[in-house]
Amino acid sequence: MTILTGDCRDIMPWHAPFDMILADPPYGDTSLAWDRRVEGWVALARSAVKPTGSLWVFGSLRSFMATADRFADAGLRIAQEIVWEKQNGTGFHADRFKRVHELAAQFYRVETPWRDIYNDVQTTPDATARTVRRKQRPPHTGHIDAGHYLSRDGGPRLMRSVIYVRNCHGRAIHPTEKPSALTEILIRTSCPPGGLVGDWFAGSGAAGKACRLSGRRYIGCEIDPEMTERARARLAMVLPFHDGGRP
Ligand SMILES: C[S@@+](CC[C@H](N)C(=O)[O-])C[C@H]1O[C@@H](n2cnc3c(N)ncnc32)[C@H](O)[C@@H]1O
Repeated sequence: MTILTGDCRDIMPWHAPFDMILADPPYGDTSLAWDRRVEGWVALARSAVKPTGSLWVFGSLRSFMATADRFADAGLRIAQEIVWEKQNGTGFHADRFKRVHELAAQFYRVETPWRDIYNDVQTTPDATARTVRRKQRPPHTGHIDAGHYLSRDGGPRLMRSVIYVRNCHGRAIHPTEKPSALTEILIRTSCPPGGLVGDWFAGSGAAGKACRLSGRRYIGCEIDPEMTERARARLAMVLPFHDGGRP
């Protein structure tokens, strides 16, 4: 459980191999001073992830389209994407929809078949019970036995790719903080228990909290030393995972 201070391109390759890399880089979509696209990290991250691992990268469609060649040139293939739906969004422009979502896309190394990538698809317990009505003829008059109606429980179902999680409005320590509950879903899906997650643009360290709660190891990297301090302090307050459940 560490958050290192510095440029992820210099620091993170030294801590390879990672079971999973999480990257939430500046999207480079606005003229804001902090929103400058970082070049060169994709190829470095690809070399730093295990052959059976994958990268989850946050971005906007605009940022993915602008950087698509970086992923292809690095030998990364897209597997799938999820949409994070939040309750509060940004509205920089009055002539567009209020933006209440972000994308996260999963990439893996082209030489590894998808079936070999660690992938523990998450499920939700909210399937509605399914009742199968099978009208059967009673075996003979007067004999009524059970089983005229067969009821089957719905059981778990695959988690949907549009995931609603409230953003950290009011509690956030970083302007673009991702809810740790959201990163925990990605981490549980793509990093084996006890595996190592590399968070290349760590910000508030929200993913570190998710690792702590789910029993994964974590190395984050953040270029802003003040933010690193705050992220470290926050992580120190999260109780570690214990076998058999949450603390
Ligand atoms: C979009 S924010 C990440 C927010 C984070 N996911 C969270 O939940 O708090 C991007 C972060 O990357 C940091 N950053 C920018 N360039 C970097 C670099 N070269 N190496 C490491 N961190 C960098 C920024 O200071 C910023 O905190």
